[in-house]
This record gives sequence, C-alpha cells and structure tokens, in this order.
Amino acid sequence: MPWKRRPFRGSKLSRALTIADLRELARRRVPHFVFEYVEGGAEDEATLRGNRAAFERLRLVPHTLIDTSARHLRTTILGRAANAPLVIAPTGLNNMLHPEGDIGLARAAARLGIPYTLSSLSTTRLEEVAARAGGRLWMQLYVMKERAIARDIMQRAAAAGYEALVFTTDANVWGSREWDQRNYRSPGRPTLRTALDSLRHPRWLIEVLGRNGVPRFRNLERFLPPGGASAVGGSTILPRMFEATITWNDIAWIRDYWKSKLLIKGVLNVADAERALALGCDGIVVTNHGGRQLDHCVAPIEVLPEIAAAVGGRLSIVIDSGFRRGTDILKALALGAEAVQLGRAMVYGLGAGGSAGVDRALQILTTELHRDLGLIGCNSVTELGAQHVRHV
Ligand SMILES: Cc1cc2nc3c(=O)[nH]c(=O)nc-3n(C[C@H](O)[C@H](O)[C@H](O)COP(=O)(O)O)c2cc1C
Repeated sequence: MPWKRRPFRGSKLSRALTIADLRELARRRVPHFVFEYVEGGAEDEATLRGNRAAFERLRLVPHTLIDTSARHLRTTILGRAANAPLVIAPTGLNNMLHPEGDIGLARAAARLGIPYTLSSLSTTRLEEVAARAGGRLWMQLYVMKERAIARDIMQRAAAAGYEALVFTTDANVWGSREWDQRNYRSPGRPTLRTALDSLRHPRWLIEVLGRNGVPRFRNLERFLPPGGASAVGGSTILPRMFEATITWNDIAWIRDYWKSKLLIKGVLNVADAERALALGCDGIVVTNHGGRQLDHCVAPIEVLPEIAAAVGGRLSIVIDSGFRRGTDILKALALGAEAVQLGRAMVYGLGAGGSAGVDRALQILTTELHRDLGLIGCNSVTELGAQHVRHV
C-alpha cells in the first residue's frame, strides 16, 4: 500500500511544530505577491536551493556518554551576553506581512534576549522601534547614491542608542527576482491577478492595509519623491537608488558618523574577512542575502570554515542564509560562527501570527537547538567544534 504522509494543515500557532509549518501558515494568510516577495530568490534560484543543499552535505558526529543535563544556550554575541546564539536578520517591508511588523519582530527578540536588526527599508521609523520595543537593536545600512540618506540613518540610529551598524555590501546592484516581478504589470503596478488574489485575503486587507494604508519606507520617507515612499511606489524608485560605487574606502567615511560596533554584511571569502578586520570592523555577516542577489553563489556555510580559520576569535562571525532547523544552527556554530542570523524563518513567524508567531518561531528553533546540543553531547554551544561535523 502506498503510504501518504499528512503535511501541516492547521491554523493554530501552538500546533506548528517546525519552521516549515509556520511557513505554510504564513503562505495561507498573506496574498501571493507578499509571500513571493519573502520567499523568492534571484534568477534561477540556484543560490536559494544551494543554501539548503549545503546543509545536507554536512553531517553531525555525536560524542556519547556525556552528562548533558546542564545544557543551556547562553552565549556572547558582539561582546555582550545573549540568551541564544541567534540574531534576527534585517528584512525590509515587514509590515506587509502583519501590522505588528518591525515592532513585533523586535519585541520577540527582546523577550528572548537576542539582537534584532532593523532594515534601512523598514516600514517603521527606527526611533519608534527603539521607543516601543527596546532590547538589543542593530541598524542595517544601505549606502545609496544619495549619501545624505546613509548619513541621516547613521546619525539617527546613534542618537536612538542602536548598539551596532550592519553595513550591507552585497546589494550594490539590485538582484533580479523574476518570480516577484511577474506579479506586476510594471514596477509598482500589480497585475489583475495579483489584485484579485489580494481580494481573496480579506483579513490581510483589513489588518494590513485597512488600519494604516499601504506600508511605507518610514526611514527614507523624507528622501523619496511623492508616492515613492509607499511599499508599492518605492519598488520602482529604490532599485535605481542603489550604489554600485561603494568600496572599502567607504568604511572610513562610515566611521566619521558611526563610532559604535560595525559589522560588514556580505562577506564570502577570506580576503574580504581579513580586510574587514584590518579596517577595524567588529564583525562580519557571512551571507549571500538569502539567495536574493547573485545567483549560483556559494553557500555561506561552505566558506565558513576557511573564514573562521583566518579571522575567528578576532572578529565576531555571524552567518545567515537558509537556516531553518536547530541542526543547521549547530553546524554553523561547530564550524566557527558566533551566532546565526535568521531571515525568512522569522518572517514566516510574523506572517503566521504577528509577534506571537515570531515567539513561536524562536521557541521552535531554540527547543531544537537545546535538544540537538544534548544529542551531540554538549552542555553549551561553546563546546561545539570541528570534531562535531563531517563533510559527506
Ligand atoms: C523578505 C526579505 C527582505 C530582506 N531585506 C533585507 C534588507 O532590507 N537588508 C538586508 O541587508 N538584507 C535583507 N534581506 C536579507 C536578510 O537579511 C538575510 O541575509 C537573509 O534573509 C538570510 O537568509 P534566510 O532568509 O534564508 O534566513 C532580506 C531577506 C528577505 C527574505
């Protein structure tokens, strides 16, 4: 008899057992074009698939007969105590998924005791996130052609007490996400199908658009032309604002305005990691932007060991792209990462149930990590090492 498994079809957060279950919940709750924006990767999505496939080629090697009854997830991230080796990644347009948006994500991070990174393309002003969410806040920076935008963000984030700046360097050119583009007749103009599909999601229409109108790029508002600040209008203007001329020389310029901790997001090779270290950066994010920029790009977990061998212990190494399970996180920590940054896994939680959904996503991952730590024979993430991972 063929045996068919029954995938998650529930509607309760508490019944979602995995990040994949939360993804399914979010998929049903938001219109197709919103989910596509979150889910998709660039071009043929080889990078996107490769991020997951890379974890399959790494296997865990447990050490047995070790008392793991004292296990905990506490660690240090960027020199400060954190309750888990996790960071919430910067994602733009969060209020398109749920009205709690950026604040909902930041509050969940604060409740767990981990950093939250606010995107330059957030739909909530950075000052509002600081005032209403608290916790450890990092500010992500896009340096655009109009340099006054980056200056404004750095000065405001410093004034609002943000702990760190995360300078994203892998979006000097805008990646091509064609599945996303197909939802629009032309940039910013939804197709009839997209519009009709949105009508089939009345709860989303009322909660997301009905309460506050179309979400806006609140941090950039004063630099965008009329109509350009809305999530819809901005999608035509923003790609043209990105800056292909950014270089390592810009770090000195950033340092004129940003004196606190600085991380470079977009490092994928040893030479760049060493350059970041030589220029006095405090950390790097080893990432391929979740497969949304360069297609056929290496997976961060594939280059992590060589980067950790070169700069580990002298720079904070944060990694992201494709992390969906506790075992994924375990592998990265064993290979030298200080923390793992979570993008879509958190956005699925937000779409599935606002801030409570993000809590659930974090609970799922920390529960998995806690269990996996015991199964591999460790009490703390600091005990993990290369001896726990085998390439197959
Ligand atoms: C919907 C979405 C929006 C994103 N927006 C930004 C952004 O504004 N700035 C940025 O540096 N990275 C952005 N990223 C990339 C994430 O910070 C992170 O690198 C990526 O999501 C990690 O991969 P994962 O989604 O597989 O966890 C975005 C990613 C997604 C999925």
